[in-house]
Amino acid sequence: MNPSVERRVVQVLKGKAEGTPPIWMMRQAGRYLPEYRATRTKAGSFLDLCYNPDFAVEVTLQPIRRFGFDASILFSDILVVPHALGRDLRFEEGRGPLMTPIQAAEIATIETDKFHVNLSPVYETVRRLRKELPAETTLIGFCGAPWTVATYMIAGHGTSDQAPARKFAYSHPKEMKALLDLLAKKSAEYLIRQIEAGADVIQIFDSWAGVLDQESFEQLCVQPVAEIVRRVAEVYPEVPIIAFPRGAGSRYSNYREATGATALGLDWTVPLSQARELQKIGAVQGNLDPMRLVAGGEALEKGVDAILQNLGSGPLVFNLGHGITPETPISHVEAMLKQVRSWPR
Ligand code: CP3
Repeated sequence: MNPSVERRVVQVLKGKAEGTPPIWMMRQAGRYLPEYRATRTKAGSFLDLCYNPDFAVEVTLQPIRRFGFDASILFSDILVVPHALGRDLRFEEGRGPLMTPIQAAEIATIETDKFHVNLSPVYETVRRLRKELPAETTLIGFCGAPWTVATYMIAGHGTSDQAPARKFAYSHPKEMKALLDLLAKKSAEYLIRQIEAGADVIQIFDSWAGVLDQESFEQLCVQPVAEIVRRVAEVYPEVPIIAFPRGAGSRYSNYREATGATALGLDWTVPLSQARELQKIGAVQGNLDPMRLVAGGEALEKGVDAILQNLGSGPLVFNLGHGITPETPISHVEAMLKQVRSWPR
């Protein structure tokens, strides 16, 4: 490919809509793939996998080799950012991430000096990926939104409603703001380095945007993401940024304008009528319920068709509304791809 020609996903994210929508899946490198499980066993722990460029490149490429997705997402985790800031982190089978809960008084003492040294294996992974990926495949770099990253730092583990972080934000507003400001600044630097290393697109995951009241949503979700977008766009204004405020509901409507993001990642609860409105202003990505992909058959076909009928003629990056789950049959992924790739009929 002529390197001056923009990759498909980049074009669509900038608002061009021609032909078949490009497709990739959140968590496309993961436990539903036998080749991922094999590499994971060789690598040792999940974090060993994230910090070893040989293994991280291998698992990033696996879904591209198998399915030929239009985009590849760097294999890493949103929690490497607090880890690189000196917070302890481990992943336990079946329990997800575990951290020592941060105390309000510790926030001012967070050490930032080794941040980029600690993350250098991630930058190396991105550099190697850009060399090894097919020329036409878009490479997506990412980070977690400050609020979502903070929820894990504060609770020390995943929770269903992020009550510990919400309580912390109300009880320690100054410290919460300091934490989000720091995460926004370091995350922006992290993304800029990923772009320098070869990422074509950035996605910001705000997986816990859906648990806040109106005022907190504005302060804790919108403002820090807007700050990241501002800082990245200052250096790389041409790189599209997809923001994914999962569960934002009616607040999706002015989220793009409020944050400056190029494109919106939609979770599966967003009605397609609302998605069509959002698509009038710019590209959208999403939003198949991952459980339709698990179920397969008619449920899958109808879900894919509805998205294509409603959004397929505008700027759409076809994706799931959240990550693919480990129990998903590979044949269902193949069926979804076939259906998307035969659009428009
Ligand atoms: O999408 C991809 O293929 C790229 C890699 C990626 C992972 N995590 C790998 C991963 C990305 C983009 C993430 C983002 C991430 N990590 C988010 C935001 C998106 C979302 O899912 O809401 C969050 C909240 C995390 C934190 C995290 N990491 C949790 C809560 C868990 C446990 C849940 C689980 O699925 O086990 C992880 C672990 C994790 N991150 C796995 C993978 C492939 C599974 C770990 C394993 O192989 O054992």
